[in-house]
Amino acid sequence: MAENTPLSLQDAAEEHERLSEYLKEQNRAYYQEDDPNISDAEYDALMLQLKELEAAYPDLVKADSPTQTVGAATSRGFGKVLHAVPMLSLDNAFDNADLREFEIRVKRFLGRPVDENVAFFSEPKIDGLSASLRYEKGVFVRGATRGDGREGEDITENLKTIEDIPKQLQGDSIPDVFEVRGEVYMAISDFQELNENQAKKDAKVFANPRNAAAGSLRQLDVKVTKSRKLKFFAYAWGEVAELPGQTQKEILDQFKAWGFQVNPYSKVCLNMEEAIEAYNQIEADRASLDYDIDGVVFKVNRLDWQDRLGFVSRSPRWAIAHKFPAEKAITKLLAIDIQVGRTGALTPVARLEPVNVGGVVVSNATLHNEEEIERKDVRIGDTVVIQRAGDVIPQIVEVQLDKREEGAEVFEFPKTCPVCGSHAVREKNPTTGKDDVVRRCTGGLVCKAQAVERLKHFISRNAFDIDGLGAKQVELFYNLEKIKTPVDIFRLEENDKKDLRKIKNLEGFGDKAVSNLFNAIDDRRSVDLDRFIFALGIRHIGQGNARLLAKNYLTIDALMKAFDAEQTDQGVAYTELLNIDGIGEAVADAVKEFFSEPQNRELLFDLMKEVTVIEFEAPDLESEVAGKTVVFTGSLELMTRAEAKAQAESLGAKVSGSVSAKTDYLVAGAKAGSKLKKAESLGVQTLTEQEWLDMITKD
Ligand code: IVH
Repeated sequence: MAENTPLSLQDAAEEHERLSEYLKEQNRAYYQEDDPNISDAEYDALMLQLKELEAAYPDLVKADSPTQTVGAATSRGFGKVLHAVPMLSLDNAFDNADLREFEIRVKRFLGRPVDENVAFFSEPKIDGLSASLRYEKGVFVRGATRGDGREGEDITENLKTIEDIPKQLQGDSIPDVFEVRGEVYMAISDFQELNENQAKKDAKVFANPRNAAAGSLRQLDVKVTKSRKLKFFAYAWGEVAELPGQTQKEILDQFKAWGFQVNPYSKVCLNMEEAIEAYNQIEADRASLDYDIDGVVFKVNRLDWQDRLGFVSRSPRWAIAHKFPAEKAITKLLAIDIQVGRTGALTPVARLEPVNVGGVVVSNATLHNEEEIERKDVRIGDTVVIQRAGDVIPQIVEVQLDKREEGAEVFEFPKTCPVCGSHAVREKNPTTGKDDVVRRCTGGLVCKAQAVERLKHFISRNAFDIDGLGAKQVELFYNLEKIKTPVDIFRLEENDKKDLRKIKNLEGFGDKAVSNLFNAIDDRRSVDLDRFIFALGIRHIGQGNARLLAKNYLTIDALMKAFDAEQTDQGVAYTELLNIDGIGEAVADAVKEFFSEPQNRELLFDLMKEVTVIEFEAPDLESEVAGKTVVFTGSLELMTRAEAKAQAESLGAKVSGSVSAKTDYLVAGAKAGSKLKKAESLGVQTLTEQEWLDMITKD
């Protein structure tokens, strides 16, 4: 058995590299694209395999190995932490009357006379994410997110990167166990700086400090968390061996002494009237704070009373939050600009006469989409009410129709892309049959707003897959204006000769690397039809649909001709397309849009001068495996998963992800797990990779 044969160090290193890269890719698919392509069980099995390999060859462990970056995870992602004391939420008060009622409820519950003063502790409600930090004998041992309140995620390593969180409590008289709770947040200035840097790198820009804090904290790669400036205010506790005080104030003072930050606006108020004053003060100062707050929290100061009051469902009876109302202002809409996102979505942005909204000067607001403009009947020149809530991007709430000037025209949403001039369309949602709310540019490959993303797709592994030309290089060449469209890739060598900024002089390149790159590009001058179609990045055309199209049209000429005729031939090609089993309206619309866009056709003609698209070869139905259902499992060594699948399908086999009684063959790579067991129990024929290859290559 393979497991028992010790690997040579070199083999082990190669296996380690392969597994690590694969798992990293899966992490990306799961966390960044939210699009996992293997099951949790498969992921766990591979992770276990990697751990075993590292246990046998400890020299292979690197800081960025998936086994190290996942922290205490038992499964994919973070480990789970059960909160011994649940993390609750707060009831809301909407105005002062609600607060006074809360005061009366508290007194009634405690049996205190109505005219007696009950002291409340007021604290700003920080707009971040709550976390629970467990200290054992004063040492920070575990930190968790709130999760669903009962169970959170283990983010200890991430929390350790935050300066405000002491790794060791200061002073003596420290309880054996103490869970400090509070809010992780990002300062507004740090958020702005982060976004500026993100924009420069063409990376994700966050909508507000809260999202930035969340995105920074829940990172499998702790280095990312560390590079972001996060902060922490302590305001509550969970499981504790003993409480070092008798009031909320005393505990927070102790927190300070232990080395925590406690919000400076926190204070004792003798009664609710004083608490309301505290609220007004905090609200007045809100705009000058360098962090977002979304209200004020009031807590009964005495802990014995907190204890007696207890909880109703998910919130304490002894606390209430008064949220700030959204801040509004009135101004004039000067213009509506259309921005084109990296996926081609056209987003309208309102340009406003600058106006002060709760201390922030606002001159832009989002209008979301075309439908929103229609629904609110927003017209240029209108007087509008804008609102800035917790989120940083202000919104238009309504139009003051009585102030509309005569002759104000209905806003006509552009039907072409303002960046490249291609048609911009609203697709039909296949389930509801209604038009999508978002209008998108159809000039993916020619549109500057989308160019880099599309180029990255064009060269991705299942598309042109050019060695030495990855996402990083494409970005670099795009910025240097060496590659602006896919055609430029194939003219890179020729154009480099005429360009003064030679690639060989760029950092990371040399004569050898450049000649390798040009050779790799030349190697891809002939390409399979399905890869070619997939590379075009037509909406809804993933690998599967690209194959379907290839299978049905056989050549790129036939496909283009079909949609050329479409111009005169009133939908024949479209109907044919819809008749293909597995192609629905959304896909057909997208294909039609793509091929009837003149700029796309031009690009295709240019591309075809550079590359030869190989005619699709009909599956060999003579093959022994034609019509059979195959499942691949375990880690394949002789071929990649994608390759195995494509090859099997080209022979007319159906490739499935799970084993059932209908499965004809299970091809099991190394360390196959549950699928192999299942196949054996169902009596499905199992094959090694080699046996499978022998079978399909047999004459
Ligand atoms: S006390 C048992 N105090 O608000 C009471 N919460 O709506 C637990 N929050 O999940 C919460 N600032 O994320 C409390 N000074 C503060 C707070 C605060 C922000 C958040 C916290 C909690 C949510 C409840």
